Order: sequence, then structure tokens, then C-alpha cells
Amino acid sequence: MSPSRARTSRITIGTRAPPRRPRASDVADLGLAEAGDARIAWADAQMPVLRAIRERFARERPFAGLRVGVCLHVTTETANLVRTLIAGGAQVALCAANPLDTQDDVAAALVERHGAAVHAIHGEDMATYYRHIEAVLETRPQLTMDDGADLVSTIHATRTDLLADGGILGGTEETTSGVVRLRALEAAGQLGFPIVAVNEARTKRLFDNRYGTGQSALDGILRATNMLLAGRVVVVFGYGWCGQGIALRAKGAGAQVVVCEVDPVRALEAKLEGYEVLPGVAAAAKGDVLITATGNRDVVRREHYAVMRDGAVLCNAGHFDVECDLAALRELAAERRQVRPHVEQHVLADGRRINLLAEGRVVNLAAAEGNPAAVMDMSFANQALAAEHLVRSAETLEARVHGVPHELDDEVARLTLAALSVEIDALTDAQRAYLTAWEQGT
Ligand code: NAI
Repeated sequence: MSPSRARTSRITIGTRAPPRRPRASDVADLGLAEAGDARIAWADAQMPVLRAIRERFARERPFAGLRVGVCLHVTTETANLVRTLIAGGAQVALCAANPLDTQDDVAAALVERHGAAVHAIHGEDMATYYRHIEAVLETRPQLTMDDGADLVSTIHATRTDLLADGGILGGTEETTSGVVRLRALEAAGQLGFPIVAVNEARTKRLFDNRYGTGQSALDGILRATNMLLAGRVVVVFGYGWCGQGIALRAKGAGAQVVVCEVDPVRALEAKLEGYEVLPGVAAAAKGDVLITATGNRDVVRREHYAVMRDGAVLCNAGHFDVECDLAALRELAAERRQVRPHVEQHVLADGRRINLLAEGRVVNLAAAEGNPAAVMDMSFANQALAAEHLVRSAETLEARVHGVPHELDDEVARLTLAALSVEIDALTDAQRAYLTAWEQGT
């Protein structure tokens, strides 16, 4: 939905919710609540699907009295998901899924105006980050929501007491890397409750990962550097859903795109899409901008730094801060200096400068505002419906990683199309019969 069609109010700026402050929170500055609330309302206007779900939840109260522990990036879009859970009757405790991603005004608004307990401060150190995860677990959540599986892995590593007597009904996981970790937990026979892998919904990964990250990763790079992409060589490591979106948008901005892959099918896909495909070191030698989006560690490392061009921009749009070997980069640097917000310049012994963005953390969240609300609408509609599904099916779901049921996925697409005023055809009876019969050969 375009902002011009947004629901607006002449009397109050921001969202209308009971000003009920929960007992314990740890945020930077509650005085930022009004500014945060105005931004939450702006995002809400672009999230019609989640809003429709929230209105239904307010009537049906599927989470009445349920304690929900949420570990997601503390952004305006997450705030609207939290509001949706609270409208459904949940008591929500929220922490960040990454220390640099918290928007302090949003955290304040959630506490002051929406009744969530929030433990998140922008730029918190790792000790505080984990203390905040602990604080959420202290609320003994019955449902978890993760982006990267930090809550669930902490529960299984140090808080197995929370698993006793079916204490946790289930959880949802937002992103690719989290699903990888949870499948590993399942394979080890240790997963203690059912998880719905929201990332595997088609209406999540096809749109959020591809078009959302594709746009917002470049947004982060542009905000941090103000560089012109046209005519530059942009190297994309990983041609999965995120990498495809980044490559597509970089190409659209006039860049010459080089793709690096380890999966032969995806490498071939990139080649036939018209990109140059090269091994990482060869690509690093010619890149003006290098972007990782693999979910893997040490994708850019010592041998890449050895050949990178003077002035190259390096950033990560994939997982946490592990995709570039930062320890090696620091070791190689004769000097490090902050040249702009989010740009740390590493001057190597031979004088070459490598500009690392956002400390190697996820650039679209750290240097911009994360994925646009319109795309997070679909992802978080899936989150909300998956949470409802977990609660309704708690008795029957096994402690495994489950996909999002197809009907939910289709429902999110239908609602999104309706919000965009797009109509589509339906199969005729004859077509449906033709597509389901084996006897008709022609
Ligand atoms: P994906 O699994 O579709 O794609 C990852 C690709 O990276 C695969 O094709 C894989 O073969 C490739 N790869 C792995 N190791 C590599 C290496 N050493 N060199 C080159 N290529 C390598 O995953 P998707 O959905 O694209 O997600 C990628 C990462 O981005 C994950 O960590 C995910 O959690 C994260 N993510 C970040 C978002 C953001 O807002 N920044 C949004 C959604 C996902």
C-alpha cells in the first residue's frame, strides 16, 4: 500500500494503544517513545495484512494470557508484530536479534505505549546482548519467536528447565541461518519443542529475502557511503534468495555484478541471468563493493584482503558478523579509523584502504532501517499466523522443524494482493480436473 493511502489520524500522531508499562525493561531512553510511536504508525500504514490479522486477533484473542518471548530486530515492523501479539492477548518480552539493529525510539514506544517488556539498546556490547536474552527467558516464555535461533539455542544450552513439563508450546524462526541451526538441533535429536520455519514460507523468502534485502542492503551501503553504484563492480558472495535480490538491484543501479558461489546450480543460474561468475579471490581483486549474503563464516578472509582494491567497500547482508573474517582484517590493518558513521577504514601495510561497513554486521539493519515495511508485512503476517497455528495445534505437532502450512502461505499472498488491489483468475472446474487427472494425455 502506498503511504498516501495510509490510515491517518488528525488528533494523535502514532498508534492508539493503552499506555501500560510492563514491570521490567531495559531500553536506552523512554523519552524517545513519542518519536518511535510515530514511526511505528508510519510502518503500520504499509502493513495492511498484519493490521487485518491484528484486528481479528483483537476479537478472537488466540494468545489470551500466553507469555511470548521474542528475539527479533527491534524495528518499527517488529513493533507492529508485537502489537499484533499483544492484541491477541499475549504478554510479550522482546530482546534484539543483533546488537546494532535496535531502534531505541521504537524500543521506548513499545514499553511506554504498547505494554511490551523490552530489553534492547542500540550498540549494546555482547555481554549486555546475552543478558537481554536471559531477561526474556526469565519471563518463562510459552512461545518463542527467533531471528537466528539465539533464544532457542540458549534455552537448549543453558535453560533446559524451561522445557520441563511441556513448558514451551513451540516457536517460530524468521531467517535462513536460524533454520539451519534448528535443523542441526533436530538432527542431533535434541529439539525440545516444535518450530515453524517462517523463512520457508514462499511469501517470506521470495519477497523478504529477495526484494526486501535486495533493496535495503543497497540502501544501507548508499546511506553509509553516498557512493554512485553505476559503473562500479559489485561482487555478491552467495546467490541464494538474498544474493539474487542484491545482484538484481545492483544491476538495476548500473553496476557490473560479479557473483561468487559454491553451489554449482546457483552459480549456473547466476551465469544464465547474465552475471559474471568468478571464484572469490578473482572477484575480490576487481570489486569496488563486496557484499556477503551466504549465512556462512569467513567467506571473505585473508587471501581476499590480499588482493582487494584500494578504497574497496566491504559489507555483509547475511548472517550476524561472521561472514567476513574481521580478526584477520584487523590483524592486517596498520591503522584503523572511523571515516564516516558506519564506515571504518582499514589501512593495510601497503597503503591500500578497505572500508568496512557497520562492523561487518548486517548492513541493511545497521546502516539503514532493515527491510521495508511492505515486505515485512508478509513475513510478519506469516509469523503471526504461524504463532496462532502453533497454539491451536500444540497438542499434535511433534518436536520438529515444520514448514508454514500451505494454506497460511496462500492466505498471506491473497491478502497482500487484495491490499495492492490486484485481482487474479481462478481455475475453471475443467482446468482443475485436467490438472489432477492422470488419464487425460492431451
Ligand atoms: P540461501 O541459503 O538461499 O543462500 C545462501 C547462498 O550462499 C547459497 O546459495 C550457498 O551456496 C551460498 N554460499 C554458502 N557458502 C558460500 C561461500 N563460502 N561462498 C560463496 N557462496 C556461498 O540463503 P538466503 O535466504 O539468501 O540467506 C542468506 C543469509 O542472509 C542467511 O544468513 C540469512 O539468515 C540472512 N538473511 C538476511 C536478511 C537481511 O535482512 N539482511 C534477510 C533474510 C536472510
